[in-house]
Amino acid sequence: MERSIFIGILISGDGSNSKNLIANYLHQKVSKIKVLISTKSNDTARNFAESYGVAYAEIHPWNEREAMNVLQRHEVDVVVLAGFLRKIGSDFIQAFPQGILNLHPSLLPKYGGKGMYGHHVHQRVYENKEHTTGITIHLVNENYDEGEILAQFACLLDEFDDPTTIANKIKTLEHRHYPEVILGFCKRLQGAV
Ligand code: GRF
Repeated sequence: MERSIFIGILISGDGSNSKNLIANYLHQKVSKIKVLISTKSNDTARNFAESYGVAYAEIHPWNEREAMNVLQRHEVDVVVLAGFLRKIGSDFIQAFPQGILNLHPSLLPKYGGKGMYGHHVHQRVYENKEHTTGITIHLVNENYDEGEILAQFACLLDEFDDPTTIANKIKTLEHRHYPEVILGFCKRLQGAV
């Protein structure tokens, strides 16, 4: 591919990962973040994206077809989910054959599947007195949290951890590793085309 890989990010939450990605990708040549789409009103994310020259769209109520149109208008090749809480349909998956990446806050297959997101995951990890947890970065397919795993990163837990400290440890891992894994994925795509 002649040009860089164009990325579109989808969020449903605060968007700390999306901000971290936008800031990290500023000087990238391999890939470029073109658009950030939020399923809820998020002025902080809007201001942040726009200050970096990244387009921002809110799709609320969520409409998958509209999101596809926005992403296609920005010629997005790779879709990155960063705290995105909607199910992705098969039309959407087929529209982005180069890849849709998701970030899951546990070491899949543990604590995956329907209803397992955000604090629900950390609560269960805490209740089960796990000694380790972590994050999984994977491709999206038709089943929740079951696409090919690209990378996993773990952290240790101890008796002083609670759901809040677990969430903080997970966020640290996410911010540290999601940008590099996406970049590696885009580099492989570049090499392959
Ligand atoms: C992250 O923990 C992610 O793993 C999960 O949702 C959270 C999003 O955080 N799917 P943020 O909105 O990027 O701050």
